[in-house]
Amino acid sequence: MTFDISSNLLIGSSPGEINDRLFQWFLEVSKGLFAFPLPWRWTPFGKALEAREKILAYIETAMAERELSPKEDVLTLLMQVKDDRAQGLTASEIKSQTLALLLGSIANTASMLTCTCMALAQNPDILTKARIEQQEIGIEEPLRLEHLKHMTYLEQILKEVERRYPPVGAGFRRVVKPFVFQDYYVPQDWNMMYSIIGTHNDSRIYPEPKRFDPERFSPENIGNKLTDFNLIGFGGGNRNCIGIAFAKTLIKVFASYLIRHYNWELLPKQDLTLNPIPVLCPRSGLKVKLNKL
Ligand code: HEM
Repeated sequence: MTFDISSNLLIGSSPGEINDRLFQWFLEVSKGLFAFPLPWRWTPFGKALEAREKILAYIETAMAERELSPKEDVLTLLMQVKDDRAQGLTASEIKSQTLALLLGSIANTASMLTCTCMALAQNPDILTKARIEQQEIGIEEPLRLEHLKHMTYLEQILKEVERRYPPVGAGFRRVVKPFVFQDYYVPQDWNMMYSIIGTHNDSRIYPEPKRFDPERFSPENIGNKLTDFNLIGFGGGNRNCIGIAFAKTLIKVFASYLIRHYNWELLPKQDLTLNPIPVLCPRSGLKVKLNKL
């Protein structure tokens, strides 16, 4: 679902044969992201490189089509955008930016949606409270932006999903200025890893960090304790996630729809151990039985 939505908004493709092929290539690329960099055709890394070329070739064809007739998608915007010296992006920049957006959007959003379903199934009291909030808002389809603003408890739940189940466990930064941290000297130009999981499990910020508890983010509890750097599922600082507003809206719309229209339970005999790579996800996916309300 996240692939169909993102690829439609980014490169204007619609569900169907081409999307199925694009999705397969996308899966190959994802499998190679953390593989050994052995570039032979039969290794996960080699297959990922090949799939990447196919996606780039597809984007190139889509660009040629937009030269003739622009569409309402991100690819068209990237082709039209100019900086203050009236310079546009090069074709190769447009292709790699589009690929980055596609790769950045799909699996992360799917991971957070999956963990939201899992957490709500495991915490029926929280689900009931969320459902009451939805009923009180009195939504008549179609859902509007105005409705989303009133879903404050759902927002707390989604923040707690971000904290407890961040799709990406860590990120990288280059050291631009040397510094000393707790007696360690860190030289300029080093690569540093900042830990999202470590921050979210720091009991000085979040007592009993393993507990799933949306009340942490209630206005009374979090107050002004929430800084820019203690909830960092989307990164932090100038280079945080560019898709944050899109992802949060998509997840909220999905969660609201699910809560209003379905009950679901986790099927037995599944392994819910979470695999962290390439994005956080239960080892065998998440198997649920859905019942329409
Ligand atoms: C739940 C969904 C998502 C999560 C958890 C997520 C998480 C992240 C994280 C942790 C980073 C690194 C930020 C940093 O180091 O400070 C990042 C960067 C990025 N994300 Fe997302 N992301 C999500 C959805 C999206 C979507 C929907 C898009 C595109 C439409 C997107 C595009 C990007 C891009 C392009 C970057 C690189 C930004 C830069 O380097 O300036 N992400 N994301």
